[in-house]
Amino acid sequence: MYKVSLMDPSDLEDAYEIEKKTNPSPWSKENFFSSFEVGHKSLVCKLENKIIGFIIFSNFKKESHLLSIAIDNAFQRKGAGSLLLKSMIRQLKALGAKKIFLEVRIKNKNAIDFYKKFYFVEDAVRADYYTGDNPDDALLMSLDI
Ligand SMILES: CC(C)(COP(=O)(O)OP(=O)(O)OC[C@H]1O[C@@H](n2cnc3c(N)ncnc32)[C@H](O)[C@@H]1OP(=O)(O)O)[C@@H](O)C(=O)NCCC(=O)NCCS
Repeated sequence: MYKVSLMDPSDLEDAYEIEKKTNPSPWSKENFFSSFEVGHKSLVCKLENKIIGFIIFSNFKKESHLLSIAIDNAFQRKGAGSLLLKSMIRQLKALGAKKIFLEVRIKNKNAIDFYKKFYFVEDAVRADYYTGDNPDDALLMSLDI
């Protein structure tokens, strides 16, 4: 059974392996590992004590930002992402947040479908938001909670 818990610094190596496998332009290891220090919040989803996914987000007063979510390839489309997203929303509501923002690659139809299932709406397109080896526009989405 899946178990969601706060990310512990000892989870970072395993979570970063998933980040590298699932993100066409992964965060640098330095940015990923300094996430705690800059005040981001993060949760992991484990199956039999093995990390299969994570979510990273930030919150300031009523506004929150979903910064990253990823599920290991072999476990995608099996409900773990939904569980992490619902857990994050629950935490954010408890903190008094009213709105969640995110950016997603416009070519990432799977993720866009995932967010729409949770009633995120499309707000705008930011052209050339993603640069480097895998350039893409960003779709800006948000959810009132
Ligand atoms: C996007 C992601 C986080 C979704 O997590 P997941 O555990 O695979 O998704 P779930 O099983 O909880 O799916 C929930 C719903 O999202 C939608 N969805 C998820 N994956 C989908 C896919 N590959 N194609 C179409 N719809 C999809 C469906 O509506 C699905 O409900 P259903 O299975 O009842 O039809 C995961 O697939 C992932 O890590 N992708 C790679 C990294 C990524 O793109 N992160 C987002 C960056 S912004």
